[in-house]
Amino acid sequence: MKFFPAQKLFSIFSNDMAIDLGTANTVVYVRNKGILLNEPSVVAVDANTNKVLAAGKQAKEMLGKTPENIIACRPMRDGVIANFKLTESMLRHFIRIIHNDRRTLIRPRMIIGVPSGITQVEKRAVEDSAKQAGAREVYTIMEPMAAAIGAGLPVQDPCGNMVVDIGGGTTEVAVISLKSVVFCRSVRVGGDEMDRAIVNYVKRKYNLLIGERTAERIKIDVGAALLDVNEEKQSIDVKGRDLITGVPKTVTLTSSEVNEALLEIVASIIEVVRVALENTPPELSSDLVDKGIMMAGGGSLLRGLDRLISKETGLPVQVAKDPLFCVVNGAGKVLEELDFFKDTLMSV
Ligand SMILES: Nc1ncnc2c1ncn2[C@@H]1O[C@H](COP(=O)(O)OP(=O)(O)OP(=O)(O)O)[C@@H](O)[C@H]1O
Ligand SMILES: [Mg+2]
Repeated sequence: MKFFPAQKLFSIFSNDMAIDLGTANTVVYVRNKGILLNEPSVVAVDANTNKVLAAGKQAKEMLGKTPENIIACRPMRDGVIANFKLTESMLRHFIRIIHNDRRTLIRPRMIIGVPSGITQVEKRAVEDSAKQAGAREVYTIMEPMAAAIGAGLPVQDPCGNMVVDIGGGTTEVAVISLKSVVFCRSVRVGGDEMDRAIVNYVKRKYNLLIGERTAERIKIDVGAALLDVNEEKQSIDVKGRDLITGVPKTVTLTSSEVNEALLEIVASIIEVVRVALENTPPELSSDLVDKGIMMAGGGSLLRGLDRLISKETGLPVQVAKDPLFCVVNGAGKVLEELDFFKDTLMSV
């Protein structure tokens, strides 16, 4: 693309951002540049001074392993801000990383993805924390809308587009037509809840206490919503603390055990998809028969979940390319083509 001088100047100074402030991961897209940051939504602070010691991957390493004077935590829960001060510190830290610690001339405008079921108070908290972290203006977009745009669905067409975004804290299902959300439903169930289900299963069955990070690894390595014959035999060695003897021990978990642990969560995800389908106006429903369902979010990578949803609904199901980046890519596209996509932003 050929730049005119004025535009070139603008692109140097403009650092407008699209942000997916997720329960599990924060991803930042900078206008004209693309994704510049992808970090776990975790922050570690000094318990006495509240000074940020680490954020992102480095802080995630510390989860559950900190001495008393350090607090490492995830400031977002169920897709929304659980701790305002820490969210703001984390965001400020990330923005500083993007700016390479340099001062910038213009405070950025930000488009932030928020869950569709967000309350006014929760939305306000997101806007305020972004402003405190340095934003000049803050716009919000519903996450499933951003996910649909990021997944490449033709949201502007007069036809039904269904997207299922399974994140760490929430699962959101939306039907979109003509740049508007026609129906959406969200449940506060997602990848985190899967991790907790694995922790509980291992505790019940083996009297073994494991951490949520270990559970996440189990889920990603051998977890599945639907098993095929070869996968049933997969297994993983899991280390934790024996609840009876109190000493560390190792057990071997099979893929079918993990599948059993995840059954209930998977069922609630399918239930919300079913509710959305039942509530879709008939003209749009008929579009879904051919176009099917697009899945996004990290949780959509759970093995066999796409096949299971397809089996349960009878519709074609596809996992988006780069599912963890759909929301940020969609919000980024809105930022780049603001005129065309402005009606997809949430009104104040
Ligand atoms: N291969 C995989 N299999 C199963 N789950 C996965 C896989 N990769 C990532 N995940 C899970 O995806 C979740 C993170 O997804 P994502 O980044 O989309 O969530 P988020 O946007 O931060 O959360 P939310 O949208 O709920 O606020 C985590 O729970 C993670 O364990
Ligand atoms: Mg998300």
